[in-house]
Amino acid sequence: MQIHENYSLKDYNTFGLDAKARFFVAINSVAELQRILADNSYPNKFILGGGSNMLITQDINALVIHINIKGIFIENENDSRVELKVMAGENWHEMVLWTLERDFGGLENMSLIPGNTGTAPVQNIGAYGVELKDVFVGCEAIRRADQELVYFSKEDCRFGYRDSFFKNEGKDKYVITSVILRLTKKNHAINTSYGAINEELERNHCKSPTIKDVSNAVITIRNSKLPNPKELGNSGSFFKNPVISKEVFEEFIAKYPEAPFYKVSEEAYKIPAGWLIEQSGFKGKRFGDAGVHVKQALVLVNYGSATGNDILNLAHMIIEEVRIKFGITIEPEVNLIK
Ligand code: EPU
Repeated sequence: MQIHENYSLKDYNTFGLDAKARFFVAINSVAELQRILADNSYPNKFILGGGSNMLITQDINALVIHINIKGIFIENENDSRVELKVMAGENWHEMVLWTLERDFGGLENMSLIPGNTGTAPVQNIGAYGVELKDVFVGCEAIRRADQELVYFSKEDCRFGYRDSFFKNEGKDKYVITSVILRLTKKNHAINTSYGAINEELERNHCKSPTIKDVSNAVITIRNSKLPNPKELGNSGSFFKNPVISKEVFEEFIAKYPEAPFYKVSEEAYKIPAGWLIEQSGFKGKRFGDAGVHVKQALVLVNYGSATGNDILNLAHMIIEEVRIKFGITIEPEVNLIK
């Protein structure tokens, strides 16, 4: 384990922000992680996964521990199902491609989501009608206080929309080391319910899509709307789609009948934040090197030398404008590191 000092995190966060870690170490095994967590010579420790869902607004005065634990193992299988144990440092999309090569179904709709597998449960990642919780069995994590390995079942994780135990009571208390997923080996449940997927499949005259076809459709759609972090720094959706009560929704929709929405329950409706932000005039706007993506207003981008605070100031400006125009408060989805 090599500990670096004053180490640039530019290559470790998808916004490409040039913040520095006071100390930095990459961890390749669970045993190494337990050892470094027990080391009291570094009182402040900061856990870094794939860096795809965070906005760093200043240098991190701590030992930054980068989770780089690799491995994909078949734990259990029968004719129809397989259970995989995926170590936390596996890149999510490369793991999805690994499963598709073996014709294991369940992750195809979540193709091309940036980040690492170990951080997927924290915000219950999701896209195109499927969420992590739909294929999730459990995960293992190290409790930071005593470095014990703890198992969390799906119930323990208390998943919600971009939400889990690890974002609430469990925040900063555990480091997820592996995730167990249950996938199908035959009779795959093809899910094309999300409008854009069907349109893309029809464009390719694909009548009975395979999981690979669905994955390719998702990749095409994502590439057409979401910037590649390697080319343009970003962190996917910067904001969550706000969930509003039925009363607020009825008033809203009477005023904006053209607005898209999803019914969450009898009492709650979700409004796409991208639409609210576009209607507030921000889509494609640029303020120095911080900007709102041209093709998807939910995504904030770094054109090169924006600082975390430039992006944060833009986010505050957007939140304020949306609140004034619609009376709806949108909230960041990314982790703000202040
Ligand atoms: N819209 C606009 N203007 C925009 C963007 C969107 O009017 O600039 C409208 C669209 O026309 C559409 C609606 O908003 O009617 C929804 O847009 P889209 O299908 O692009 O999805 P989203 O709600 O903006 C969510 C997730 C994405 C995920 C997609 C597809 C959140 C916060 N975001 O975005 O997740 O890929 O659905 O499932 O839930 C991420 O979390 O990083 C992420 C990219």
